[in-house]
Amino acid sequence: MVSSLQLPFLTTHAFLLVTWHLLFPLARCAVYQSLEGLPADLKPFDFIVAGGGTAGSVVASRLSENTNFNVLLIEAGPDTAGVLEIEVPGLIGQINASIYNWNYVTTPQAGLNGRTLGVPRGRGLGGSSCINGMAYSRGASDDYDNWARLTGDPRWRWNALWPYMKRHEHWMGAAGGRNATGEYDPSVHGYNGNVGTGLPWDATNEHDIRAIRQTEIQGDLHLVSDHNAGQPIGLTWLQLTTGGGERWSAAKSYLGPHVRRRPNLRILLNTHVTRVLPVKASKPRIDVRTVEVADRAAGSRVTFTAKKELILSGGTIGTPQILLNSGIGNRTELERLGIPVVLDSPFVGEGMMEHVTVTLTWNIVPQNITVIDPDVAWAMWQQNRTGPLSTPGPVHQVMWYRLPQKTDVLSKYKDTSSGPGSPHFQFTFGDQGRVILLTPYSRGSVKLNSTDPFVHPIIDQGLLTHPFDLAALKEGIRTAKKFYTGPAWEGYVLGFGGPDPDVLSAEEFETRVREVARTFLHPVGTAAMSSKHSKQGVVDSELRVKGATGLRVVDASVFPLTPASLTQGPVYIVSERAVDFIRHSWL
Ligand SMILES: Cc1cc2nc3c(=O)[nH]c(=O)nc-3n(C[C@H](O)[C@H](O)[C@H](O)COP(=O)(O)OP(=O)(O)OC[C@H]3O[C@@H](n4cnc5c(N)ncnc54)[C@H](O)[C@@H]3O)c2cc1C
Ligand SMILES: *[C@@H]1O[C@H](CO)[C@@H](O)[C@H](O)[C@H]1NC(C)=O
Ligand SMILES: *[C@@H]1O[C@H](CO)[C@@H](O)[C@H](O)[C@H]1NC(C)=O
Ligand SMILES: *[C@@H]1O[C@H](CO)[C@@H](O)[C@H](O)[C@H]1NC(C)=O
Ligand SMILES: *[C@@H]1O[C@H](CO)[C@@H](O)[C@H](O)[C@H]1NC(C)=O
Ligand SMILES: *[C@@H]1O[C@H](CO)[C@@H](O)[C@H](O)[C@H]1NC(C)=O
Ligand SMILES: *[C@@H]1O[C@H](CO)[C@@H](O)[C@H](O)[C@H]1NC(C)=O
Repeated sequence: MVSSLQLPFLTTHAFLLVTWHLLFPLARCAVYQSLEGLPADLKPFDFIVAGGGTAGSVVASRLSENTNFNVLLIEAGPDTAGVLEIEVPGLIGQINASIYNWNYVTTPQAGLNGRTLGVPRGRGLGGSSCINGMAYSRGASDDYDNWARLTGDPRWRWNALWPYMKRHEHWMGAAGGRNATGEYDPSVHGYNGNVGTGLPWDATNEHDIRAIRQTEIQGDLHLVSDHNAGQPIGLTWLQLTTGGGERWSAAKSYLGPHVRRRPNLRILLNTHVTRVLPVKASKPRIDVRTVEVADRAAGSRVTFTAKKELILSGGTIGTPQILLNSGIGNRTELERLGIPVVLDSPFVGEGMMEHVTVTLTWNIVPQNITVIDPDVAWAMWQQNRTGPLSTPGPVHQVMWYRLPQKTDVLSKYKDTSSGPGSPHFQFTFGDQGRVILLTPYSRGSVKLNSTDPFVHPIIDQGLLTHPFDLAALKEGIRTAKKFYTGPAWEGYVLGFGGPDPDVLSAEEFETRVREVARTFLHPVGTAAMSSKHSKQGVVDSELRVKGATGLRVVDASVFPLTPASLTQGPVYIVSERAVDFIRHSWL
């Protein structure tokens, strides 16, 4: 009886949906492929989000949960939904960089023997989360407690941020559903959030077992059940934003079909934000709520004004570029470029922090790895989201560690880490294994080379320009060497190929490191937050641009110091936190 009643209802419902789709293909779709396609008679927007990347996707999605808020999200790149290379984690190497990547390049780096480096940044809905390596870490509790100290705002403490750590996350366990008990702490994860996270599909291998044994043997390291509990130091399991074997970009996580159906959210793609503009020159603070856009350098400029707030989420490169183009920056430098000064904010584009990494070489016994045929791999992914395509790579573990307590480095330089619970280094395994310095002294910058907003800015990452960084890397490499050549690796790792500070002379070591060092693709801090009274920084602890009203920055550029972590997790945390700041301003 019940089923015979339900069936016609369902059929009618499905029929209506299909008919609706055919008759009004665009009526339900609030995603516009170009500026030209945007209807002229739109209601005024309460909020405009400039930049539809990792942070921008969160902000636009959350704000439009309130049906009273009319929201516009503007992204320079295209949609990323349905792009197979982006959806399948193992196809990361095939993502078309001429479409989905800004392909920035640094200036010749003084600390790298004059080499230039590529600065990949995602372009398209979801931003860098569509092209990143998908590793998921939050950082140490000390990192956020330090942010709270630096900003004078206890709401940035780890404990205070805890709800936002869980709010963005949807923990899905191991891809394929293997029993991963013991590889993570269920109590520290979120289960009702947006970003699908989890562990790789394949179980513990010989490499993992040896790494665990070496940790136990060595005594000065320990095993950590979950590096996202705030105390990451030690050997632990790598977590990924590949819940269920798929890449959970910010667009997939926050701008899925049901969000796109919201009548109060409009998404404007392939549209470049050229400037942000004051509504009126009111004193003492200028009111910046207008965004200026264009579809190409020669294209006509169009403006939109937010009734409530404009949120800038262009990322660590895009955000300072837009601010500087808008006359918000160092007065002297703006005048030199002939840009009318709207707000003298000298730290815009300054203070960039970046993790620097050195790839180490080892003599490793070739392993009997079962190579999975590409056709089989594809079948596995299609069937149940397992196999090598369900993960960005074969690595299962990560090690976080500090400089040794007794080292010249720490007697010579003030400790750059946020506290004793925050690591100086990350070591990622693999055939090579890289040491990553998480706490550099060196700083970089983003400056304009042109008043044309379509021209790439000048990016100087300043890598290895401070002597601490090289000295610290030397110790970090020694620790990795001690670990990876320890007794548990007998018959597996036959030797360390360097760069070895115990074999090379000091000069040789320095030359080698400057020749091979790279970035870990985590630039942050170019519009940093600072305390209310600080003359430094660009935004206050609620991420409002100091000296202005109406304008907030929400993305990795606001980090006051880089966390000892990969950066997408912290971006999600900051974004969710920011959404509540914004909501509470407009209750
Ligand atoms: C190749 C790569 C690998 C990485 N691997 C990892 C990893 O494994 N784990 C990890 O945690 N982190 C990783 N990261 C870092 C992490 O992805 C970023 O820190 C994070 O996604 C940055 O978020 P965001 O919102 O600040 O910027 P983005 O996500 O870059 O968003 C900025 C958005 O603004 C748009 N935009 C910029 N300028 C304009 C403009 N003028 N007009 C309109 N739109 C504009 C961009 O197109 C982009 O969509 C990686 C990054 C890269 C590039
Ligand atoms: C990448 O995109 C560009 C621009 O659309 C196109 O010309 C090129 O053929 C694409 N490359 C691949 C490998 O698909
Ligand atoms: C998973 O493994 C743990 C121990 O490794 C065991 O206690 C538990 O019962 C297993 N769970 C299932 C569902 O098999
Ligand atoms: C502004 O830029 C000028 C010129 O580059 C520089 O000398 C000055 O120190 C900068 N101001 C601040 C406060 O950083
Ligand atoms: C690989 O397999 C061969 C043959 O089965 C065996 O002799 C060899 O010991 C294996 N090597 C390793 C490193 O396990
Ligand atoms: C997934 O599918 C493959 C076949 O393509 C099968 O061999 C494997 O056992 C399946 N795994 C799970 C966890 O269901
Ligand atoms: C700045 O612009 C000039 C002129 O277009 C160009 O030659 C130069 O390479 C640019 N500098 C940087 C660092 O991009």
